[in-house]
Amino acid sequence: MKTIIKKINNIQSDRDIIEEAGKILKKGGLVAFPTETVYGLGADALNEQAAEKIYAAKGRPSDNPLIVHIAGMEDLPRIAEIIPEEAKIVAEKFWPGPLTMIFDKTGIVPYETTGGLNTVAVRMPSSDIARELIRAGGGFIAAPSANTSGRPSPTMAQHVEEDLNGKIDMILDGGTVEIGVESTILDMTVTPPMLLRPGAVTKEMLEELIGPIAVDAASISADSSKPPKAPGMKYRHYAPKADLSIVEGPVELVIEAINGMAAERIAQGYKVGIIGTEESRDRYRQGIVKSIGTREDEATIASHLYAILREFDHEEVDYIYSESFARGGIGNAIMNRLLKAAGHHVINI
Ligand code: TXA
Ligand code: MG
Repeated sequence: MKTIIKKINNIQSDRDIIEEAGKILKKGGLVAFPTETVYGLGADALNEQAAEKIYAAKGRPSDNPLIVHIAGMEDLPRIAEIIPEEAKIVAEKFWPGPLTMIFDKTGIVPYETTGGLNTVAVRMPSSDIARELIRAGGGFIAAPSANTSGRPSPTMAQHVEEDLNGKIDMILDGGTVEIGVESTILDMTVTPPMLLRPGAVTKEMLEELIGPIAVDAASISADSSKPPKAPGMKYRHYAPKADLSIVEGPVELVIEAINGMAAERIAQGYKVGIIGTEESRDRYRQGIVKSIGTREDEATIASHLYAILREFDHEEVDYIYSESFARGGIGNAIMNRLLKAAGHHVINI
């Protein structure tokens, strides 16, 4: 299959491209598109064959449910059976935006989309391109991250091309995404609501609005005995090819420890990558050093995380040592993804 790749700068002047992409979706095809979190791989969520194509293109296990993206609140009751009052309050504040909520599904949502579950995950993205495309494609677009299963999520169109060129109908290139980690997932079918995946909408922000929420233990710890409630969270995601270790402790000691380990590996003939920050990058003496962002603005760290993991794949490093980051706010999402990428390999200093 030849994948059409089109740049989109502006939803007004590029109207015809969005219409073309919408037609592909309505016919059951696959279109990758930017959202504010990561690029999504879209298909008509109400068409079971289209949903099945997503699993094939990504190499994704079919028990891993898809998020249905909508463009307006009026579309929610068509796919969600019960909409609790708290969900309306949360939607009012955080939709459109980087938040997914889980509801009991209605009959029109096929089990191919929900991975066999009776619940459906729903998100209304804030990206204009995404919302226009959802409308042009019929209003209900299933979209997992547009990467091959197991690779870091794509934050720019080139990442999508690397993984899916020749396997999907179209890629809309809207530049680099804003946030860089996937949406927060909140399960509204349980009381209290439960956070299944941390993201840019934090637990604190949700609790301020609706009071205490529960947290799926499997989303924060490696050794939880229970399987995660979001089926996708059980797979080893976001994995770079190199052996990635997170070094945790006071920053000064971490820098020294990473310098020591890097020197040792390099002396053994290995290629080493280091993930530091704007503050620490000049303190590393050897290896390929990349700054992930600044500790003064953690959003910069979230936005570069996946791109850096992909860059180290291209540079074919054998070992990656990463600094560890603060866990509050969006730091929870950063550490959740980094720990998964590292297979929970943490060196405590
Ligand atoms: O930011 C995002 O959410 C991006 C963009 C494209 O919108 N999408 C995304 O989709 O991250 P994906 O498929 O990579 O991750 C969806 C996660 C998986 O962990 C899946 O198991 C979980 O959502 N999920 C989907 N439906 C669910 C359900 N009914 N119950 C529990 N977890 C569900
Ligand atoms: Mg994903």
